[in-house]
Amino acid sequence: MIKISTIVLSICLMNICSGSLLLIDRKNPCRAYGNGSVYDITNLVSQWPVTLKGSGYGGEYYYWWSCAGNTRYCEDADTAVCQQRTDGPSIQYNAGNVSPQLWFGVFNGAATQVNLSWDIIYPNRQSNPSLIDGSGIRVTVVHFIVDPNVEKPLLTMNGENKYTEYSITVRGKCIGQPAINRTSFVQGYCDPQTGQVVPGLFMNEIQSYFS
Ligand SMILES: *[C@@H]1O[C@H](CO)[C@@H](O)[C@H](O)[C@H]1NC(C)=O
Ligand SMILES: *[C@@H]1O[C@H](CO)[C@@H](O)[C@H](O)[C@H]1NC(C)=O
Ligand SMILES: *[C@@H]1O[C@H](CO)[C@@H](O)[C@H](O)[C@H]1NC(C)=O
Repeated sequence: MIKISTIVLSICLMNICSGSLLLIDRKNPCRAYGNGSVYDITNLVSQWPVTLKGSGYGGEYYYWWSCAGNTRYCEDADTAVCQQRTDGPSIQYNAGNVSPQLWFGVFNGAATQVNLSWDIIYPNRQSNPSLIDGSGIRVTVVHFIVDPNVEKPLLTMNGENKYTEYSITVRGKCIGQPAINRTSFVQGYCDPQTGQVVPGLFMNEIQSYFS
């Protein structure tokens, strides 16, 4: 028993659970909070959805990712990631929903963490699963890595890693991570569009907003 739970825990830690569960903003699904920190990817790309290309079951696919949904390709507006074969018939598959999303990251002291990383997991809403086309069992994991050597956000579609699990990596100096301006001591998040630290609300200020 002990052995099994240890194994499960270490698998969990390696693969997905890279941090604590963050609090997702109720009005903006592209934003989440830790304790005294804010993560905001609203301006990660100039326009959502962003189009990525990568491998998938049986060939190459387009993947349209939109952190607030409305991928424009999948019918369901709650779709975060929509996929379609680049060569085959234009059938779209929902590869992860916005509403059940989970953000895992550093909860305490994120703004001072060196080489911070965090994850967003977009599982399918399982309201209408189908074992014929995989509806309901798809999940996309987006892994964010703050890298001071990468000037502009670099988005990579890693394709389908395990059956119906898709993965995207976002790497860059300024990718919406919690940050502090070393000159003004303004605390907030690094805005990918401007490279500036934008002040943000913090957990103590938003507690009433969650209750
Ligand atoms: C949040 O941070 C404050 C100040 O650092 C600390 O006292 C408090 O225990 C933290 N809360 C949680 C839930 O970790
Ligand atoms: C942070 O990342 C940079 C670039 O990948 C690397 O050179 C450096 O060693 C890392 N620092 C720590 C403390 O992990
Ligand atoms: C930090 O603040 C200073 C003074 O307000 C400003 O000139 C600078 O652009 C800011 N830097 C970042 C990265 O936000």
